[in-house]
Amino acid sequence: VNGVRRTVSKKELARHNKRNDAWLAIRGKVYNVTRYMEFHPGGEEELMRGVGIDATKLFNDVHAWVNYESLLQKCIVGSLGEADTEGA
Ligand code: HEM
Repeated sequence: VNGVRRTVSKKELARHNKRNDAWLAIRGKVYNVTRYMEFHPGGEEELMRGVGIDATKLFNDVHAWVNYESLLQKCIVGSLGEADTEGA
């Protein structure tokens, strides 16, 4: 049930950096936020700042209290890998 499906490398994450193909990582998990984009209360441009990268710090700086795990439970892709080659 909404478990982590696989490991996503930072390299693969980086490829999903478009408005219509948007992934980001928060606290070790990778989410596909493409569908969430238009619903983000802070706007698309703000959310786009974290796309394709480990957005943990950015997210925490802006709103560490937001319950993203609940909001994005259907959007989880997997776990963020440490090595650049992992899951590439
Ligand atoms: C609000 C930025 C990711 C959920 C906001 C606001 C900013 C922002 C600036 C304030 C908007 C305002 O008050 O006018 C960002 C950035 C992100 C990011 C730079 C990149 C990582 C996310 C994610 C989620 C999320 C991943 C959840 C899935 C929300 C919610 C609010 C909000 C619920 C409203 C919070 C409130 O009013 O207390 N965001 N956001 N954001 N964002 Fe994000």
